[in-house]
Amino acid sequence: PLPPAFRVPLPRPRVLAPVSTAGGVDRYEITQRETVGEILPGVRTPLWTYGGSFPGPTVEARRGRPTVVTHRNELPVPTVVHLHGGRTPAESDGYPTDLVLPGSWSEHRHGGGMPGMPGMADPRAVQSRVVREYTFPNEQRATMLWYHDHRMDYTAPAIWRGLAGLHLVRDDSERALELPDGEREVPLVITDRAFAADGSLAYPSLDPALRDRPGVQEPYAAGVLGDVILVNGAPWPVHEVAAVRHRLRLLNASNARHYEIEAVDQDGRTLDLVQIGADQGLLAAPVTHRRLPLAPAERYDLLVDFGAVKTGGTVRLLNRLGSGRTREVMAFRVVRQERDDSRVPAVLSTDLPQWRREEAVRVREFAFRAGRMGEGHGWLIGGRPFDPAREDVSVRLGDLEVWRLIADVHHPVHLHLVGFRILSRGGRAPLPHDAGLKDTVSLRPGEAAEIITRFDGYRGRYLFHCHNAEHEDMGMMANLEVR
Ligand code: C2O
Ligand code: CU
Repeated sequence: PLPPAFRVPLPRPRVLAPVSTAGGVDRYEITQRETVGEILPGVRTPLWTYGGSFPGPTVEARRGRPTVVTHRNELPVPTVVHLHGGRTPAESDGYPTDLVLPGSWSEHRHGGGMPGMPGMADPRAVQSRVVREYTFPNEQRATMLWYHDHRMDYTAPAIWRGLAGLHLVRDDSERALELPDGEREVPLVITDRAFAADGSLAYPSLDPALRDRPGVQEPYAAGVLGDVILVNGAPWPVHEVAAVRHRLRLLNASNARHYEIEAVDQDGRTLDLVQIGADQGLLAAPVTHRRLPLAPAERYDLLVDFGAVKTGGTVRLLNRLGSGRTREVMAFRVVRQERDDSRVPAVLSTDLPQWRREEAVRVREFAFRAGRMGEGHGWLIGGRPFDPAREDVSVRLGDLEVWRLIADVHHPVHLHLVGFRILSRGGRAPLPHDAGLKDTVSLRPGEAAEIITRFDGYRGRYLFHCHNAEHEDMGMMANLEVR
């Protein structure tokens, strides 16, 4: 029995306290463990968590001040931690075979290579331990990142079971804008999930133990969808607000579901969604939307003004791409009037890279398409499924490149290490929501888009892939070597 919409209060993911702030470094510890949560009221749901909650605890970072997170794995399977959108040295970027082994596995038992874990055969990849320290320099623009599992072939079911959390980077130029903060800044981690009759999260894995057989049952190869929409881990929640401007920080942490977000009040009026930021931080200037497409892994930083909503009024966030109950996401209930000195700054940032196509040293092209993989169906980049032992693309540190990405069906394409700008879509100018610095571009069916980026930061082995998590697990990932 699913709960009626807009009854469960919106949880706010707890902010993780550092275990040490000495030496200019913030140190955190996270234990990955199984827990039983209550997502649907009165229903017990086993989860895989970072630190006991879904979403995991939020890491709050300052630009330029490193965060070191020690992860301990008490789950029954290996894991990999990736900070999505982080400018991270390769050794902390969570390469899919760079495992944190479960404490319950002894190294010697599996020392000769693990059955069904082909990545372990790659000698470059083996750097595995039970406890793992990840270093995130946070040398990047202020924005909302997220961390999630990234194990080869098993990312989708691991995220589905709960392995995702937020990592915010703050800086002084953002603070100077005096955007709504405290209670008026609300992170919204949007996911969809399906529940089995026993209350567990239903995922059509070929191997429910996630040990030996990756992938999903054939009918789900396009991506796994749920019929329950969760925000911050709660089903169709409601959030009580004052009638003032709020800063809403949206993340689509769903495996495969796309949203088109719209905010509608009790009289059917649409509220403006004033976009101030994209995946990789603040835009140059605000862009006002009536609705916004949100592909897996994309983020939006929005200002929404509830000032015109009377006390007792309700604003629903809707998904125009959903049907029935998946059309609804959550609601805001205006419960009081409060003074509001906030404003929408006309200029948000002046440091966005202005890369010009003529300055690019190279243009590459990648097709993201379905194809055969072994015996079955897979998702391919440039005709090939992911292979950790193969080098796909080698770029020179500091080079500016244009990448042309071509899709058969919807593919949200994500590059590790760098942010990029969208140059074109379907041969035309980018769309209004493509503004700013991105790390995920949502390719629409049949579409070709061009992005431009400078590969700087660190040398080493990175990735690019489709962020439909099932596509990613079924081959749609490639190696990106920065030399
Ligand atoms: Cu959000 Cu390679 O991942
Ligand atoms: Cu895809």
